[in-house]
Amino acid sequence: MQQQLASIVDAARQDSVAVTTRAEMEAFKARVVGPNGSLTQVMKGLGALSKEERPVVGRLLNEAKREIEELLAALLAKVEDAEIADALGAPTDPSLPSPEVPAGSAHPLSRTRERILASFRKLGLTVAEGPEVETEWHCFDALNTPADHPARDMQDTLYLPAAFRSADAPRKGAESVLLRTHTSSVQVRTMLSRKPPFRIVAPGRCFRRDAVDATHSANFHQVEGLWIDRQVTLADLRGVLDFFVKETFGPDAEIRLRPSFFPFTEPSFEMDLRSPNLGRLSGRWLEIMGCGLVDPKVLELCGLDPKVWSGLAFGLGLERIAMLVHGIDDIRHFYANDARFLRQFA
Ligand code: DAH
Repeated sequence: MQQQLASIVDAARQDSVAVTTRAEMEAFKARVVGPNGSLTQVMKGLGALSKEERPVVGRLLNEAKREIEELLAALLAKVEDAEIADALGAPTDPSLPSPEVPAGSAHPLSRTRERILASFRKLGLTVAEGPEVETEWHCFDALNTPADHPARDMQDTLYLPAAFRSADAPRKGAESVLLRTHTSSVQVRTMLSRKPPFRIVAPGRCFRRDAVDATHSANFHQVEGLWIDRQVTLADLRGVLDFFVKETFGPDAEIRLRPSFFPFTEPSFEMDLRSPNLGRLSGRWLEIMGCGLVDPKVLELCGLDPKVWSGLAFGLGLERIAMLVHGIDDIRHFYANDARFLRQFA
């Protein structure tokens, strides 16, 4: 029996030399330890042995099994190495540089935002923030916008269900909660939380019930500005905006303030821009933001004494600026996540 086991192990060892593939390894395994394998046959014969012989042969059998298992483990390692080498093709040279991984880049809207903020930062404006889910009071009432103003219409504003109503700061009874329609609400929050004088710029996402087309998106971005101090004048407003426009569009860019109306500024203006380096829009007056001097009523509603404090404010659309700077003709490009579009701004 001992002889027989030794010759099975010897044969297996010789047999294994020829094994190179996984299929050959499986066949080899079946020949030795499969249901009809050579070693399995010996194990089956164990029952026919006498009580005295059984433990002795059993020990020898275990020894043979262990050797076969070692042989199989070595074969598996050999086969796997061969498979990896095969998958890699030519031998690898670890000293070569790794394959190029394309570096990501900032989204054109983020880049435009950073550029705009950088120019206002030079004038000492710091970044302020407010929530996208806002109360009706912060978005409209505190900005002197009456209840019957069209901007507050169900058709224009995305109101949230009653379940979202803020429990923490209900100012006037059951106050509605909405997705802010502009970043002007950050003006209110800043005036309520900071001591003047201060100058802030507030970039952020806004929402309106707009039908989406080349120039409208229900989800867009604004940059708001607010500068509160003693005796702020229209000359300050002009100076701030002129500086911003020259920083963003070049030293030859000019601005024009055209009288307009906003409930929260008095007087109010639309600011137009004209620049010689805007492609086919060069030399034309283009409307790019609303602005004005903060209405004394707003100062009062936000707890500032209008006899002491005054301010300038402005709000611009980030997408509009990015479209002008880069000559982009459709706002939807910004949100489509098409790498072919995004790569152009890398
Ligand atoms: N909030 C206005 C809008 O969304 C834009 C605006 C106009 C902001 C005048 C201002 C401002 O700060 O003074 O249309």
